[in-house]
Amino acid sequence: MIIKEAKFICSNTEVAKCPETNLPEYAFIGRSNVGKSSLINMLTERSKLAKTSSLPGKTQLINHFLINENWYLVDLPGYGWARVSQTSREKWSKMVKAYLRNRKNLACVFLLIDSRLEPQKSDLDFIQLLGEMGVPFVLVFTKSDKQSIQKTQANIAGFKRALLQTWEELPPLYVTSSAEKNGREELLQFIEQTNVE
Ligand code: GTP
Ligand code: MG
Repeated sequence: MIIKEAKFICSNTEVAKCPETNLPEYAFIGRSNVGKSSLINMLTERSKLAKTSSLPGKTQLINHFLINENWYLVDLPGYGWARVSQTSREKWSKMVKAYLRNRKNLACVFLLIDSRLEPQKSDLDFIQLLGEMGVPFVLVFTKSDKQSIQKTQANIAGFKRALLQTWEELPPLYVTSSAEKNGREELLQFIEQTNVE
């Protein structure tokens, strides 16, 4: 797919204020600092579309980007950052749950997982929540440039084993590096295939 246009539309904290539309949208979620905003920039080939930072907690709002006037990418704030207060954690949880529950045009969630880490409880808990809510999702293992292919594959295998303890089937799974632009075509192809044009 060719990205002809990628436009920032709006940021807000409430699902009720998100753009009114029937166009399908794909939301990026995962632990703080996992690389959600960077992946949006890599996919759209616009390095400054979504704001990124080396410090966790950069994205705080629900951010809508309209692609080719035809579908949305949504950048969400991350979870699992140790130094976040209980109040912020609860605010995050309320906002994201409301978004997942009520956003009618949500086609799929891209759940980003740091490919360098062993299975994290916060990720497994979030997958559980998506399952309970019946939200379709795929797993995207990020930052694969940071280590050897063998190490990435070993961590993914560990993650699959952890998932298979509670799930009978595994979701689609992708490996990406925003730094090296790996996985771009695969993700865009997935979007193209599921996009109801
Ligand atoms: P929050 O908005 O805080 O939840 O973080 P985020 O998930 O949006 O992460 P962000 O895209 O801001 O990236 C966090 C840091 O990781 C930045 O310093 C990025 O440059 C870096 N980063 C993201 N993706 C990659 C990658 O594929 N490879 C490498 N080497 N660094 C990456
Ligand atoms: Mg971000």
